[in-house]
Amino acid sequence: MGVTAVIGLQWGDEGKGKIVDSLCEHADVVVRCQGGANAGHTIVIDGTEFVLHLIPSGILRDGVTCLIGNGVVLDLEVLDKEIKELAEAGIETSGRLWVSHRTHVVLPVHKQAEAVREELRGDRKLDTTKRGIGPCYSDKFSRLGIRVGDILNPRTLGEKVRTVCAAYHEVQGVEYGVDYDQVMEYCRKYTPMLEAFSADTLGVLAESIAGDKEILLEGSQGFLLDIDHGTYPFVTSSNTGVHGLACGAGLAPSAIDKVVGVVKSYVTRVGEGPMPTLIDEPLQSVIREKGREYGATTGRPRRCGWPDLVALKYSCMLNGVTSIALTKLDTLGGLDELDVCVAYEYHGSLVDTFPADSEFLVDCVPRYVTSATWSELDDVTGVHDLPPGATEYVERILKTAGCELELISIGPGRGELIKVER
Ligand code: IMP
Repeated sequence: MGVTAVIGLQWGDEGKGKIVDSLCEHADVVVRCQGGANAGHTIVIDGTEFVLHLIPSGILRDGVTCLIGNGVVLDLEVLDKEIKELAEAGIETSGRLWVSHRTHVVLPVHKQAEAVREELRGDRKLDTTKRGIGPCYSDKFSRLGIRVGDILNPRTLGEKVRTVCAAYHEVQGVEYGVDYDQVMEYCRKYTPMLEAFSADTLGVLAESIAGDKEILLEGSQGFLLDIDHGTYPFVTSSNTGVHGLACGAGLAPSAIDKVVGVVKSYVTRVGEGPMPTLIDEPLQSVIREKGREYGATTGRPRRCGWPDLVALKYSCMLNGVTSIALTKLDTLGGLDELDVCVAYEYHGSLVDTFPADSEFLVDCVPRYVTSATWSELDDVTGVHDLPPGATEYVERILKTAGCELELISIGPGRGELIKVER
């Protein structure tokens, strides 16, 4: 028993939901640690698709306790909707789902502020998910934020709401019209839900560790969107790697025993920001349709690119990844070509390290090697059934990552997985 962190190693949408669902078959506790309703974790069970934005994917497994940690920014409307939708599907959240008192709350003004900031950026807009993520984290770090515990404390809530309203009175020449009574009403509307679902999640985690329980930390977004290590400024506003998960769950980093890096067999990106290995049309659209590459939260089409081993090596190195979960290997089946980026060419020099400056990624030219292709993976049940091209490709990924294989996903369904027996 121990603590396993599951993180995406690319620009999000690697298929973490399905991997967490599989890994938590034997887990006791699953924790969402960072991000907010910008995430959309998709799990398909017996043909029914569940998309979870805030509640940990472990809620779909009986007996698993689910925690929303201090590092998450919580959209109360989305949480309320998600709890109700799960109830309609016959999934009980009461007594199984707990939100930290320290979790910051996304207010309607955060979404308004995000729209204004995007507008002011003009051509340099980030194309965010518009879920108020950046402004909520900004208020957290400016020490203005409203936390779950604040909403539950009527003695001090009013004063804190007044401070936020004053901060938004007029920003960058924009009159927000944020109204004290409206914010208070918003907080009061969701107070009963928070009374029912909030808890001392640090205590739950400490007890679980002491009781030798199996704990999964469910990462959101991907490491290349990390606020410190991603393609800044085209990133999200949280630490999406293993460091962010430890902090956002409320655990000592040394408590993490295992780091599973989720890697999609090709790369995708949604929103603005460089992605050097973009595939030419019409092949890009073929892969997008076959892989159903449309945002689970916003429905936006994702850009699709060839595998990028420079970025993969970087993500593995900074996160101390101990095993790889490779997803959507089936999507690459049946292609006539498969190019794998092994370095970047920049002003005549070959570079095999991931740059700090996003502009580098705009200007560089990927250096590819050609990898053998394979046909569809319909009859594959184990690693040894994989066609030679797929085996060669998986080995290349593992060699770059410098770690072992956890599992391979070859379809959206819960059973469409190749598990590695150890
Ligand atoms: P934000 O997180 O809404 O502020 O968006 C910042 C950037 O991260 C945008 O390019 C988004 O498209 C991207 N992003 C945020 N969350 C996700 C996700 O869960 N999957 C993929 N991209 C995401």
